[in-house]
Amino acid sequence: MDKPIIIALDFETDEEALALLDKLDPALCRVKIGKELFTACGPQFVRTVVGRGFDVFLDLKFHDIPNTVARAAARAADLGVWMMNIHAAGGMAMMEETRKTLEAFGNDRPHLIAVTVLTSLSQEDLTAIGLNCTPQEQVLRLARLSRQAGLDGVVCSAAETSALRSEIGDDFLLVTPGIRRPEDATGDQKRVVGPAEAMANGSSYLVVGRPITRAASPLQALEEFNSAAAG
Ligand code: C5P
Repeated sequence: MDKPIIIALDFETDEEALALLDKLDPALCRVKIGKELFTACGPQFVRTVVGRGFDVFLDLKFHDIPNTVARAAARAADLGVWMMNIHAAGGMAMMEETRKTLEAFGNDRPHLIAVTVLTSLSQEDLTAIGLNCTPQEQVLRLARLSRQAGLDGVVCSAAETSALRSEIGDDFLLVTPGIRRPEDATGDQKRVVGPAEAMANGSSYLVVGRPITRAASPLQALEEFNSAAAG
């Protein structure tokens, strides 16, 4: 995969995020803007990052009635983002209406991927919200539903990648966080996988935050991740 690394811009302010972008090269990576930075800095900041030549994954995980999510997705497409996501648990109609709305943007439309089961949810959490299945079963169910809805892929943990890839086939994006080299601190990630292994397991893109954003040289760390991912 060309440019497999998506760097998570998990910052409080646009100054911090832009200072990192100054050290990076849009030819070598893509970036992810999540709820914290978007809530702090808003759509104008997304336009600024797109204007600097970076492909932006807008990680806002929309989940609402179909009309609301589809219309919000259209506004994300207006910003020129490269990828965006919605919750598969929002259901088939929500996913289909959003996919159809984005099709109007033609070949430049953002990739639309789904979140299945948040990795922060345990078996007990699923039971408490009335789901009588394992997290793995629910991930698979929602990944299949996302595919039926015509979405481009799902976010999945590195631990789930192999099983999902063999179930779901090749032409479906698997976007995988929780990536660490042996020398990286795991932080709050419980199960981590190396970049080479994640790609070998079938990941399409690797979301990497702190091992690059907090490195003494972010560009050097990125280059190391890129060469490890290239295998
Ligand atoms: O710093 P680190 O590499 O752990 O950052 C990983 C990024 O991926 C963060 O933005 C985090 O929110 C996101 N993510 C994750 N695990 C998930 C889904 C998203 O770590 N299951």
